[in-house]
Amino acid sequence: MSASNNQCWLITGGAGYIGSHIADEFLTAGKNIVIYDSLYKGLKSRIDYLSKMHNTTINFIEADIRDEAAFTAALKDFKVTGIVHTAALKSVEESMSKRDEYLEVNYHATKRMLEIAKKHGVTHFIFSSTAAVYGNPSSFTACEEAGPTNPINPYGESKLLAEAEVSNFASVVGNIATSFRFFNVIGTGNPELLDNSTSNLVPIIQEKLKSHLPITIFGSGYPTPDGTCIRDYVDVRDIATAHLLAANSNKQLPSAMNIGTGHGASVKEVIDLALQIAGEPNAQVLTADGRSGDPAILFASVDLVENSFGFKCRYSLENSLRSVF
Ligand code: UD1
Repeated sequence: MSASNNQCWLITGGAGYIGSHIADEFLTAGKNIVIYDSLYKGLKSRIDYLSKMHNTTINFIEADIRDEAAFTAALKDFKVTGIVHTAALKSVEESMSKRDEYLEVNYHATKRMLEIAKKHGVTHFIFSSTAAVYGNPSSFTACEEAGPTNPINPYGESKLLAEAEVSNFASVVGNIATSFRFFNVIGTGNPELLDNSTSNLVPIIQEKLKSHLPITIFGSGYPTPDGTCIRDYVDVRDIATAHLLAANSNKQLPSAMNIGTGHGASVKEVIDLALQIAGEPNAQVLTADGRSGDPAILFASVDLVENSFGFKCRYSLENSLRSVF
């Protein structure tokens, strides 16, 4: 058995949309995994699907990341050497009214997990961060990791604070860690693993089509070519591949890396393409006021992730939307 097969990876949030795709990728690569998820938003059905697909029993611990005893026991029981930490609260809107809870779950719990991980021989830690750490950039250029971070909501703030703790963990000799700053994650490897959140553009389009309700564009007066916001939509399967690459790295990684395509698409472009793929070109689309705090343009610089990490996204916006509609 190779050294990497002796490693056990604990995936927090492994019953979630992104975590389950990472679990899928790791299982396909022959890695030993244990899923740690409170099932607050995660779905047990995703773990059942993965078990069936990979013809294996998946080690699953139903626990909250704030439960230090359960987390410590998981590390010991499974001799965990690497952690992928996706479990988090992730609604920007909710974070505005629940700042303390977002800081507790996304920052303080992550900090304590890293302390416990250090004590128990974990050497690898891959953290799910977000483009929200960039806030509302003042220039319309690609966001660079070394550029300014200025979160404008507690969600982004909590992730940026946690990133610093991950860097701290990485500074211990022998440890390898990074924070991946996800841009707008879409797509799926299988309908069983689809995004079940109701707060992001693509699942909202799906939901609206299913219930024959109009789709709403939030704001059409932004300083962009068609007046709607531009985002960088990255496929969840590319996110999973980046994690596998980081998990297999035996050299130190940049402390934070953007995971995006490097290209922006407008809300209108996404909706038009989704409707075309779904075969619903005449679905009703309304325009409403922009949401407060929405940056006009946000897309990733991918120089660091490509040049120093050797990773490039494979899926186009069309590929991603085709996997969903
Ligand atoms: C934000 C966060 C991102 C986080 C995500 C999770 C920032 C910069 N980004 O992304 O890190 O992972 O929330 O919730 O804070 N839109 C419509 N109509 C709709 C829904 C959305 O026009 O019905 C528009 C939004 O105004 C936005 C774009 O679609 O311009 C994408 O929205 P959304 O999917 O909610 O993600 P972000 O707000 O970009």
